[in-house]
Amino acid sequence: ARAQETFKIGLILPMTGASASTGRQIEAAVKLYIAQNGDTVAGRKVQLIVKDDTGVADVTKRLAQELIVNEKVGAVAGFGLTPLALSVAPLATQAKVPQVVMAAATATITEASPFIVRTSFTLPQATQPMAEWASANGMKKVVTLVTDYGPGIDAEKTFTATFTKAGGTVENLRVPLANPDFSPFLQKVADAKPDALFVFVPSGYGAQFMRQFTERGLDKSGIKLIGTGDVTDDDLLNGMGDAALGVVTSHHYSAVHDSAENKAFVAAFKKTAGFRPNFMGVGGYDGMHVIYEGLKKTNGAGGEALVNAIKGMAWTSVRGPVSIDPQTRDIIQNVYIRKVEKVDGELYNVEFATIPNVKDPVKAAK
Ligand code: DHB
Repeated sequence: ARAQETFKIGLILPMTGASASTGRQIEAAVKLYIAQNGDTVAGRKVQLIVKDDTGVADVTKRLAQELIVNEKVGAVAGFGLTPLALSVAPLATQAKVPQVVMAAATATITEASPFIVRTSFTLPQATQPMAEWASANGMKKVVTLVTDYGPGIDAEKTFTATFTKAGGTVENLRVPLANPDFSPFLQKVADAKPDALFVFVPSGYGAQFMRQFTERGLDKSGIKLIGTGDVTDDDLLNGMGDAALGVVTSHHYSAVHDSAENKAFVAAFKKTAGFRPNFMGVGGYDGMHVIYEGLKKTNGAGGEALVNAIKGMAWTSVRGPVSIDPQTRDIIQNVYIRKVEKVDGELYNVEFATIPNVKDPVKAAK
C-alpha cells in the first residue's frame, strides 16, 4: 500500500531576508536533483513543498508542524540557519520524521534529534584545517572576527584552540547576526596589526564584509584575510571585486572543484538556475541524494528505517568523496584549502591543498 503513497518533502528555507541566497541556492539544487533523477523513487511519487520561513525560527517551527501534521510529509529538509534547524528537532523526534539539514552548520545540531541527518558541514570541521594552515605558514598572531551565534562561536573556539596549541596568539571579536556593522571591529583589527584576520560570517553576508574591509583600507594593510569559505561563497564572490583576490579559506566545496561530476553539476545548475552554485546548493543536492538512495534501500519506507538507511551511506559528491558517519549522522568529507583567483575572468576559490575524510572534530573527541 505504501508504494502507492506520495512521499512529500517539506523544504523549509529562508527565501527572503538576509539569508535569501541560501534559500534560492538550495531550492534550485533540489529542483535540479528531481529533474535529473525523476519524481518517482522506490515506486513512490515524490512531491516537493517549498515554504519560506523568512529566517525566523518561530516561523520554521510552525511551518514544520503544519507540514508534519496536515501534509503528513515523509521528510522535512532545508534549514538555512542554526536556530531554524534547532527549532524543528523536537518535532522530528516526536513525529519520527527524518530532518535533513542541508545548510545549518553548528556542530551540536545533529545531537538535537536522532532523526537529523546533515549534508552540509560543521564549522569545527572546516575551521581546524585553516588554523593548521595558518600556523604552518608562519602566522603567529591572528584576530578572529565571527558572527555571534552557534557557527561563529564554533569557528572561534576551534580556530583559537588549534592555533594556540601550535604556539600562536589569538584575539577574539564577535559581531551581531542582525544588521551587522563590521566597521568598528575592523578598526580594532587595524589597531591590533595581526599577521592575519580569520573571519566567519554566514553565507550571504560576505559582500558587505568585503566592502567594509576594503573601505577601511585593510586590503592594503598587510593583514592577510583568511577564514572558512562562507565569506567567499560562490554565489557572491564574483561580485566582490579584486579586493577578494588572494583571500585564503578552507571549505568543503568550490564551484571550480576539479572533477567530472562537478563540471557536469555546475553546467546543469547554471543552465537551469541562471547563477553559479555555492556550498549551500551542494548541501541541498546531496540532501536529496540521501533521501532518494535511502528510499531505494528501504523499498520506499520512511521514518526511522529511512534514517537508518542513510547512516553509513557513501558516494561521490560533486564536492569529492563523502559518507554519512553512522555514529553522528554528520557528513565526513574532504576539506580543501583555497585561494581566490581569476579563472576565465571570474573570481573563484581555487583549491590547492586537500585534507581528506575530515570528521567533525568536536564529536570525534567525545
Ligand atoms: C550557518 C549559516 C550559514 O549561512 C553558513 O554559511 C554557515 C552556518 C548556520 O546558521 O548554521
